[in-house]
Amino acid sequence: MNKLEGKVAIITGGASGIGEATAHLFAKHGARAVVIADIQDELGKNLSSTIGLHRCTYIHCDVSDEAQVKSLVDSTVAIYGQLDVMFSNAGIISKSNQTIVDLDMDQFEDLFSVNVRGMAVCLKHAGRSMVEKKVKGVIICSGSVLGRLAVAQHTDYCVSKHAVVALMKSASKQLGEHGIRVNSVSPSVVATPLMCNMLEKEAAEVEKYVEPFTSLKGVVLKAEDVAEAVLFLASESGFITGHDLAVDGGFTG
Ligand SMILES: NC(=O)c1ccc[n+]([C@@H]2O[C@H](COP(=O)([O-])OP(=O)(O)OC[C@H]3O[C@@H](n4cnc5c(N)ncnc54)[C@H](O)[C@@H]3O)[C@@H](O)[C@H]2O)c1
Repeated sequence: MNKLEGKVAIITGGASGIGEATAHLFAKHGARAVVIADIQDELGKNLSSTIGLHRCTYIHCDVSDEAQVKSLVDSTVAIYGQLDVMFSNAGIISKSNQTIVDLDMDQFEDLFSVNVRGMAVCLKHAGRSMVEKKVKGVIICSGSVLGRLAVAQHTDYCVSKHAVVALMKSASKQLGEHGIRVNSVSPSVVATPLMCNMLEKEAAEVEKYVEPFTSLKGVVLKAEDVAEAVLFLASESGFITGHDLAVDGGFTG
């Protein structure tokens, strides 16, 4: 059970959905500390007290602001000594369909400031800290099936998630020389608040809506399944780096 014994982890976007499920799983697997970083302060604080304040902390961090990300990593190292695992998971999706001919460039820029710029600064400051402290750490990024293929909408999200995979691969080449592994997880649809809000459907309806898109019938993808994939990349997969792990029931296969 203790796959993360003694490890210190940060989870961005950790207050909800996939990040929240991963925070619970990391704590269950003996992480010495789980730092939840998010902009939803009430949710984040409640989650950290549910998990247990002695080894779970909430830090407000908007990943689109580099100073806040640097401060998140610096505070984590100041409190717990080092950073072993960064799950760079915060992400958003635009409200409109964002087809190419109707692309709303304000939404495009907002989305890029979180999904791409935010991802880059998280990799930068987590990587720097691990290099400086000589920690052979692990970084996992939240990708998506839309980082592997395209659909008829969500152009900005699709481009951003392709960029996440490129960032992950570049970082893995550079940080590998310090023994730091960098991978990503790419889920299909999970009925989290992000997806329910975007589709304007309840969780059960979202799960029904996505049924045709997977090869695995009778199995519904949950945030906990994605968390298990993140845990695998964070713990047991010692020779895997530069890899985008699809968690999609064969959707992109
Ligand atoms: N739910 C899905 O179907 C799905 C599929 C593929 C990939 N993903 C990716 O998984 C990740 C997690 O999404 P989720 O589905 O759990 O959604 P969610 O909305 O439940 O959780 C995302 C969290 O990120 C936080 N966040 C948003 N902007 C932020 C910012 N600027 N700084 C810090 N935190 C911020 C939100 O407050 C929220 O707590 C995202 O990167 C998303 O793109 C989700």
